[in-house]
Amino acid sequence: MRYDIKDIGLAKKGKLRIEWANEYMKVLSLVRKHFKKERPLEGLRIACCLHVTTETANLAHTLKEGGAEVVVCASNPLSTQDDVAASMVKDFGIATFAIKGEDNKTYYRHIESALEAKPNITMDDGADLVSMIHKSKKNLARYIIGGTEETTTGVIRLKNLDRKGMLMYPIIAVNDANTKHLFDNRYGTGQSTIDGIVRATNMLLAGANFVICGYGWCGRGVAMRAKGMGANVTITETDPLKALEAVMDGYNVMPIKDAARIGDVFVTLTGDTSVIRKEHFQAMKDGAIIANSGHFNVELDIPALEKMAKSKRRVREFTDEYTLKDGRRINLLGEGRLVNLAAAEGHPASVMDMSFANQALSCEYIAKNHKKLDKKVYGVPEFLDKNIAKLKLESLGIKIDALTEEQKNYLESWELGT
Ligand SMILES: NC(=O)c1ccc[n+]([C@@H]2O[C@H](COP(=O)([O-])OP(=O)(O)OC[C@H]3O[C@@H](n4cnc5c(N)ncnc54)[C@H](O)[C@@H]3O)[C@@H](O)[C@H]2O)c1
Repeated sequence: MRYDIKDIGLAKKGKLRIEWANEYMKVLSLVRKHFKKERPLEGLRIACCLHVTTETANLAHTLKEGGAEVVVCASNPLSTQDDVAASMVKDFGIATFAIKGEDNKTYYRHIESALEAKPNITMDDGADLVSMIHKSKKNLARYIIGGTEETTTGVIRLKNLDRKGMLMYPIIAVNDANTKHLFDNRYGTGQSTIDGIVRATNMLLAGANFVICGYGWCGRGVAMRAKGMGANVTITETDPLKALEAVMDGYNVMPIKDAARIGDVFVTLTGDTSVIRKEHFQAMKDGAIIANSGHFNVELDIPALEKMAKSKRRVREFTDEYTLKDGRRINLLGEGRLVNLAAAEGHPASVMDMSFANQALSCEYIAKNHKKLDKKVYGVPEFLDKNIAKLKLESLGIKIDALTEEQKNYLESWELGT
């Protein structure tokens, strides 16, 4: 089996962590049981470009149990857990190409290695597999029956391809499932982003001025958790509706140029580019902490910061201190990569359970329905989404009410009023 990982000797630790995560992934475990019995992915080759974490290992194992040949590469140079990569190769027989801290050249070489498998299904987190196929490996499209996409930024890229009529095969936007973005983006990113910032800095959140750029699903989650830990939360937005929502949720809202002056810590979660840039770095307090938890590190204009700095040193494992010409210092966390994955472990398994159940079941859906699908971006079928919510509740031991016949009739009628 081909692979490129840091050290196969780390497998023992990785396996223990994968097993621990699996305990919290009850819905995915049910999918795995069904896959093992039915083998819906028999004979298919699946290339996954995902954050190489304990949860991803459990997903890859599930796809394999469904009959697929699985190859995995990293979807970010800093998010790989090397012990997990080792165990994926040694214990689960999954061809893995991922090394934490790999440079850009290695990152793209690993994507190429995954594509050498000539996949029938691509599974992306950020659309880098699809992007490479559409830019320089168009000949691979003839093997592909469909793809899936995990995150907001990837879905935006794919919808742009679709709108331009250039998409070469159908893709299911897993991010758009309710059981994905309402939970993973909000509660997952909310908790793990705070976790990453705290691990990288050991800062006290109580009383800190915490600036969050973007009040989408991820931003809402981080704001909620930062507020809960006693921070004074300020939101920056470009969408009036989201800004208004932030105001009524009780946060300060202002432009980034004003927030830059008061923030102790800044996090971007916009999916946009250069959200915090030169003029904002220029206004920041000495010791300001900046981080990104959006998909790409372009949300922070790091090249501008590099140019402005007279020196740079690594002061903690995931913290680089830039000293500006006037002596002020700005601390960049996790090289501007998703801070929850670079400096912590990413989302807790319990929330990835739903995201990855969506991924696995979307693969089964593609295997069964690809002949009926056009070269478009599709949502996850509603029946799958609803079933995942139902199974998750059951796994948590929570029961809910069912509509009575009278209630069903009432909700379907228009005649009855006061
Ligand atoms: N860290 C993680 O593990 C993780 C998990 C899920 C998603 N993501 C990524 O996080 C990013 C945000 O995802 P989301 O689901 O919250 O998206 P979203 O579309 O729900 O929210 C993004 C928000 O940012 C706002 N925005 C855009 N440009 C801005 C700017 N210049 N200044 C201030 N606000 C701006 C938009 O108006 C929007 O409200 C994406 O890149 C996504 O892929 C990361």
